[in-house]
Amino acid sequence: MSIAVCPDCNGTGWKILEQAELSGAERCHCHFEGRAQRNEASASIPPLYRNASFDNFSTKRAHRELASVMTTVKSFVREFPNDQHPGLLLMGDPGSGKTHLAVAAFRELLKRGFEGLFYDYQNLLDRIRSSFDPTAGVSDKEAYRVAMESEILLLDDLGAHRVTDFVEDTVTSILTYRCNNRKPLIATTNLSDTDSTPVRSEGASGKVDYRLTLTDRLGMRSRSRLFEMCKVVRMPLVEDYRTGSWSRH
Ligand SMILES: Nc1ncnc2c1ncn2[C@@H]1O[C@H](COP(=O)(O)OP(=O)(O)OP(=O)(O)O)[C@@H](O)[C@H]1O
Ligand SMILES: [Mg+2]
Ligand SMILES: [Zn+2]
Repeated sequence: MSIAVCPDCNGTGWKILEQAELSGAERCHCHFEGRAQRNEASASIPPLYRNASFDNFSTKRAHRELASVMTTVKSFVREFPNDQHPGLLLMGDPGSGKTHLAVAAFRELLKRGFEGLFYDYQNLLDRIRSSFDPTAGVSDKEAYRVAMESEILLLDDLGAHRVTDFVEDTVTSILTYRCNNRKPLIATTNLSDTDSTPVRSEGASGKVDYRLTLTDRLGMRSRSRLFEMCKVVRMPLVEDYRTGSWSRH
């Protein structure tokens, strides 16, 4: 595909300004347009979510609640970057639209010129774990550093992994670093935030349902940092968009 050369700057990305005796240069509009496209191309958004936006997020299934969730997420984008709450945490059941909304917000920020990376939580941990293997490739070795340093980190499906000390330490150190340095994080999770008191299910079996919490999976320190740095959005109970069925009850 050939890329047309910008007629305003002949492709240099700079426009010469001549005012009275002074001359200088300013960035051409094409520099920002190109940057937004480059940021999106290098953000590793999975194909399924590449077009996720606020416009194609339907509020039909629970109009009032989903519209209000969307308003909160949009306000996060509008107020970005926000030093007090540099992050956004979307909590809720599978298929309720968390990743869709997280990507919609993320893409708006990429369009505004911020840089960022999408990481599936499990994949990130696997790569960090394998980076301790002496035969690991450069990109695995980079994963941990990138998760710390990237301007915006979208961490999808936080906590979708069994707990090991390694997981807890790794996640805590990434979150601590980002929190201390006020580096934006957008995260989604299926975990709940009630304490892990067993909930007795209604079924005849009388089985005890230990619904996992953020603290169970990530530890108290990570949970505390997440809540300190993030605007928290709880998704309403809606039908799973993937299967069209209720995810529980
Ligand atoms: N309100 C919505 N309007 C349009 N599409 C939606 C909506 N909610 C979800 N979807 C679509 O349904 C699919 C599942 O949604 P999504 O992946 O965002 O769910 P999730 O809450 O992240 O689930 P999980 O916890 O399993 O990761 C996606 O393809 C998404 O684009
Ligand atoms: Mg998801
Ligand atoms: Zn130009």
